[in-house]
Amino acid sequence: MSEVTTESSGGILTITLSRPDKKNALTNAMYGALADALERLEAESGIRVAVFQADGEIFSAGNDLGEFAAQSENKGPAVRHVERFLHNLVKVSKPLIASVQGKAVGVATTMLLHCDLVLLADDAQLIAPFINLALVPEASSSLLMPLRIGHVRAFEMFALGEPVAARDALAWGIANRVVARDQLRAETQRLAQKLVERPAGALALAKGLMRNNEQVLAQMERENQIFSAQLRSDEAKEAFRAFAEKRKPNFN
Ligand code: COA
Repeated sequence: MSEVTTESSGGILTITLSRPDKKNALTNAMYGALADALERLEAESGIRVAVFQADGEIFSAGNDLGEFAAQSENKGPAVRHVERFLHNLVKVSKPLIASVQGKAVGVATTMLLHCDLVLLADDAQLIAPFINLALVPEASSSLLMPLRIGHVRAFEMFALGEPVAARDALAWGIANRVVARDQLRAETQRLAQKLVERPAGALALAKGLMRNNEQVLAQMERENQIFSAQLRSDEAKEAFRAFAEKRKPNFN
């Protein structure tokens, strides 16, 4: 069964991460499916809004660290879909909603900066451990996170990689609502339905006016070059080995 499923109903495209045994860690194939889903959202006029959600205990553990380790040894896939996914996230003109329970790590947190409505369950925790992995922030989060929450909070999130609780994410403006976990999907669908009822043309135009896609894509490109070089660094290789060996990394 696919680890990303999509379901279209009543104008809402629901995109579900479904690799719960690996905490929904994102593989190249999953990025490909996510990128395809966003292309479908844009292409089908009957679909007016997309919802990202996840099966299982947590939203997502972020990029698959086994795949990062392979890429660090130049053994990655010939076609990498992550960039297509991230570009589509920036460029999509229709509203995106995220519905997050439990932990959202790495790209699972930074993708929220591209969503138009973010709902968190009360147990949600946002974690951006790029520097703990000897990497740098991606998905244009080095630009968007400080803009959203201010430099010092963003720096602490990236540099310490400690979880940000749902109530803080709400107070800082990363999320619209915190709801009881058992209400998360119903509340998300309720808001999605409200957007479906709004005029699609005006929604897309307003979203376009609120974003500077050129600037966001340019920052993504800058990050990408540094991220790719850092992925192959000795310190990053040590971080990936440590995760595989279930131990703390030794950066000394
Ligand atoms: N990539 C690949 N596999 C991952 C993964 C990831 N990012 N995150 C978790 N998994 C796997 C684990 O290796 C484990 O597999 P196993 O059962 O074959 O040993 C399984 O998912 C369960 O993970 P586990 O660590 O036992 O769950 P947990 O509930 O104790 O902790 C996390 C959950 C998300 C806090 C923890 O797994 C974690 O920190 N993962 C790494 C997150 C990360 O750094 N992502 C990259 C961001 S750039």
